[in-house]
Amino acid sequence: MSVEIRSTKPFPDQKPGTSGLRKKVKAFLQENYLENFVQSVFDTLGDAGGATLVLGGDGRYFNRQAIQVILRMAAANGVGRMLVGQGGLLSTPAASCVIRKYKALGGFVLSASHNPGGPDEDFGIKFNVANGGPAPESFTNRVYERSRAIDAYRILTAPDLDLDTLGSCQVGGMTVEVIDPVADYAELMEHLFDFGLIRSGFRSGALTLRFDAMHAITGPYAKRILEGTLSAAPGSVVNAVPLEDFGGGHPDPNLVHAHELAAAMYSGRPPTLGAASDGDGDRNMIMGANCFVTPSDSLAILAANAHLVPGYKDGLRGVARSMPTGRAVDRVAAAMGIECYETPTGWKFFGNLLDARKITLCGEESFGTGSDHVREKDGLWAVLFWLNLVALRKQSVAAIVADHWRRFGRDYYSRHDYEGIEVSVAEGIMARLQDLLAELPGRSFGEYRVALADDFRYVDPVDGSVSEHQGIRIGFENSSRIVFRLSGTGTEGATLRIYVERYERDPSQHDLPTQEALAELISIAEELCQVKQRAGMAQPSVIT
Ligand code: G1P
Ligand code: ZN
Repeated sequence: MSVEIRSTKPFPDQKPGTSGLRKKVKAFLQENYLENFVQSVFDTLGDAGGATLVLGGDGRYFNRQAIQVILRMAAANGVGRMLVGQGGLLSTPAASCVIRKYKALGGFVLSASHNPGGPDEDFGIKFNVANGGPAPESFTNRVYERSRAIDAYRILTAPDLDLDTLGSCQVGGMTVEVIDPVADYAELMEHLFDFGLIRSGFRSGALTLRFDAMHAITGPYAKRILEGTLSAAPGSVVNAVPLEDFGGGHPDPNLVHAHELAAAMYSGRPPTLGAASDGDGDRNMIMGANCFVTPSDSLAILAANAHLVPGYKDGLRGVARSMPTGRAVDRVAAAMGIECYETPTGWKFFGNLLDARKITLCGEESFGTGSDHVREKDGLWAVLFWLNLVALRKQSVAAIVADHWRRFGRDYYSRHDYEGIEVSVAEGIMARLQDLLAELPGRSFGEYRVALADDFRYVDPVDGSVSEHQGIRIGFENSSRIVFRLSGTGTEGATLRIYVERYERDPSQHDLPTQEALAELISIAEELCQVKQRAGMAQPSVIT
């Protein structure tokens, strides 16, 4: 085995987006494409000499090949020890857990999250730092700069490693430990939730569950924890075997893509709780019998009830949500007298707040919820939290939600996505909205009068770093809101996301269909951005 220094040429497009570098598999198959990015990370890290790193992914197509390349490059770059999930698997939250537990310098997480997998679909890679969370922009910007100048990478000439057998071996000067991808994560969950209570709920039949793993990474985690440790009935976890192409599905837990689950939850005999997770296990969708919980409501409900759950019994230090996320959690924070931070989209912005112990819970409208237990959002954690709540309150999901609305009011919330728009058209739409900002305040649209219009700019309260252009916010005097932003995770064209929300205090108005309750705001949003005319689309691609 010897270290080879291979020359290479930079690629111009290795700028990490909302969550790492995400491209079509075909892009990653270009000669040296993966190698350039990985070497750029090592160059940015500086001296990895002797450090421990973590490596794993969601098992999608190209996961295994990428892992072999990264192992050889890590050995050639002086890494001391690499912890790899068995089979090359680690869910994103489990990777975060392992990085923290073993005090690693960081880790490579291979995933394109909820994007489809397969030879013609997506792949992704991101680097997480020592706190277990996605690298901050200061780091990813340096990786990008490095990727534009790179001219060589280091790699060991060595045969492929057996990733399927637990245990350790040497690759050059590096020790590779193939670890159980579930064990450390499962142990952490056991400390946070009342497993005894949930288990007796399942055993007595008071609690029933359908968890749809969507043929993605959470299958093995959910099987072991929910059906194994917690005694949920066999078969409660469906689509549990991870597949390289997710069975041809789109592993995104929402009502559109997890339609099998949605159908089961609105069927004649639905279980108490329905849930799904995404490709890499960091997202969650929560449903009850005949009931869907919006992620923004879910965050608020978890915050309001956290003190009932063992891991959070001392209360919350503060909470945070991404800017476009509905403001239900703000009301809970206000009632509790704790701070609620508003961050740009993307989990990386929660890292500083968590590390500085300013917040305990955080979440995003895009089916992401999490806490200070790791530095990623965590799908199965949210499901266990809900199971714990339902077992403890002995109420249905729908009753818990209705109670919450009665106490705090309801924030009707929806997101409309227009996908595959030509980039120049999407940029035109955003430029038009920018131009409108100055003239909007004070303007009325029917009964909606604009109180505030701006382009969201975030100053990190911990390190003072500034993130500009994080979305157009239009707030109305009746506290309704519209937000526009372009997706930073797509791999084809542009996606315009329109977020609308309306607050309703009156309990007699809490049972309207969401799209109906928001109809007027939606048409104001469409009028403002003119997406239908400009993109030539009759309707949104996805509504959540
Ligand atoms: C999307 C979500 C965002 C989430 C990210 C990664 O990013 O909107 O909340 O953090 O995926 O899961 P976007 O495509 O909007 O940039
Ligand atoms: Zn994900």
